[in-house]
Amino acid sequence: MHIMVINGPNLNKLGSRDPEQYGKKTYMDLISMIEAKASENVAISCFQSNSEGKIIDYIQLAGEEYNGIIINPGAYSHYSYAIMDALADVNIPVVEVHISDVHSREEFRRNLVTARSSDKIISGRGFDGYIEAIDYLIGEHK
Ligand code: DQA
Repeated sequence: MHIMVINGPNLNKLGSRDPEQYGKKTYMDLISMIEAKASENVAISCFQSNSEGKIIDYIQLAGEEYNGIIINPGAYSHYSYAIMDALADVNIPVVEVHISDVHSREEFRRNLVTARSSDKIISGRGFDGYIEAIDYLIGEHK
């Protein structure tokens, strides 16, 4: 199976961005951790973009060629109907991951718009949330 991991705006700044919320490890550390989960049967491709349109392009590609999507849409999670629509249009499982616990932060972060089109939401588990998401998608694929 082939899993696509999409990270949205400002997640390329992991490591220096608000370490209280997101920890001190970098985006490249995250990618290494995710890629270590790949195996003979599970290919994982990772993308990051700060642009809404680019993220939608990745979702559309995943819908055609992949078996599952893991997405952290960053702040777009809270207001992007365009990403919500793109995710609703794919026929593969979608897991939305948030590194921080969005429910215990500012009020606006509790409004999860894109997650309306996801099969599962993982929030507040740090980088491990992505690993949980991979395990979930592998389980769904069986
Ligand atoms: C985030 C939470 C969002 O509210 C925030 O805008 C992000 C990261 C998270 O991973 O916890 O960019 O999605």
